[in-house]
Amino acid sequence: MQTILHTTGDVVLRATPTDVECMKGADLLLADGIVQGIEEPGVLISEWDATDASKNITLVNVHGRAVIPGLIDAHTHLVWDGDRSDEVALRNAGMSYQDIANHGGGIQRTVHATRSASEERLAAIAMQRASVAVRHGTTHIEAKSGYGLDTETELKLLRVGASIDGAGTLPSVQHTWLGAHAIPHGFTERDTIDMLLDEQLPAVLAQGLATATDVFCEPGWFGIEASEELLRASKNEGLEIRMHVDEFQDGGGAELAASLGAVTADHALKSNDEGMNAMAEAGVNVGWLPGTPHMMGIDLRDPSEARGAWTIASDFNPNCPSLSLPFAASLLVHKCGLGPGEALAAVTTSAAQTTTRSDGLRQGSIEVGAVADLNILRSGSWIGWCNSPGHSPFEATMVRGTMVHHENGLTPSSNVFPNIRGE
Ligand code: NIG
Ligand code: FE
Repeated sequence: MQTILHTTGDVVLRATPTDVECMKGADLLLADGIVQGIEEPGVLISEWDATDASKNITLVNVHGRAVIPGLIDAHTHLVWDGDRSDEVALRNAGMSYQDIANHGGGIQRTVHATRSASEERLAAIAMQRASVAVRHGTTHIEAKSGYGLDTETELKLLRVGASIDGAGTLPSVQHTWLGAHAIPHGFTERDTIDMLLDEQLPAVLAQGLATATDVFCEPGWFGIEASEELLRASKNEGLEIRMHVDEFQDGGGAELAASLGAVTADHALKSNDEGMNAMAEAGVNVGWLPGTPHMMGIDLRDPSEARGAWTIASDFNPNCPSLSLPFAASLLVHKCGLGPGEALAAVTTSAAQTTTRSDGLRQGSIEVGAVADLNILRSGSWIGWCNSPGHSPFEATMVRGTMVHHENGLTPSSNVFPNIRGE
């Protein structure tokens, strides 16, 4: 079925770090989940004779609303059970992330809750979260395991992630294996790496459950040598490398990411200048995750401190349970002076460079041949996309060609938009 979206406000076709390519009104032809045409207002309707009902083309009048590409969340921990919201009191009482972990909180606490949850329960939780992500404009998610640690549970988390990929109007999902998220109770770092190399990595590969490996490379979690050993073995098996680096201390994670040719090294709050330069030279993306320092009362880092490519992601996890990219972007726009266009590039075209879709479709921009993933704002200006923290700026999100209305009580696939101009 063909759809023509018309009477738009701004249409952002592509945001890059230096430019926002925007049409002041454009009509979009969408069919089979793909963008088929982009023209000045009126052109497609007359070309296709679309007002003739016998042509069976759905006309969607968005009454002057702006349209931007679907957002890409290139770093999430989507699947876990439990609740750690009470840890805020410990943080406010002066305990560090490491202190809380040492006192039975943090990752291990979530591992405990997650291991005892059934696969069905985890799938229901993850689906609900994925639909919240869509409500905030996300059409593609990178989802890490990491709250099982043992092989059985890690495989379960990856299967749950796979069950969402491409389902209904949920985002597409790229799966990353994060078995090296923490050292399981009773294990040493050495035991853990041996278990991951001998048992878990082969199982993940045999079942084809992940396209990338991630490691929490940080003093107190996984050191440089252990991280390198696991990541090299993964790369040799064809998995991409993604990393958590230098979140609380500069442990040399950025230099390791550069030497291994990681796709992305995220957090990087304490990475030193040499590490930042090395990553830029090696083409390693820096993933800024501003929600996490925000939740911990830690200073954000100005994104311009990355010397090469960088993205913004939610880092959705029990310590930072927000799936809103508009909120994450707002932190950098409103606290660090980042431009809304640069922020939009960071969650669209730049994020597309670091992620892959299992359907192989192009994403991150509105262009002919790309997936029909896009957002319809409440306002006519694209700039509002990251200017309403706490509220989704989106009236509707199109996921692979199907419209999901968010706040007006309409059902998915409806083509009716309220008229905001009072016409
Ligand atoms: O990226 N820092 C490591 N992993 C997650 C948080 C894990 C947790 O606290 O549960 C992150 O912030
Ligand atoms: Fe993370």
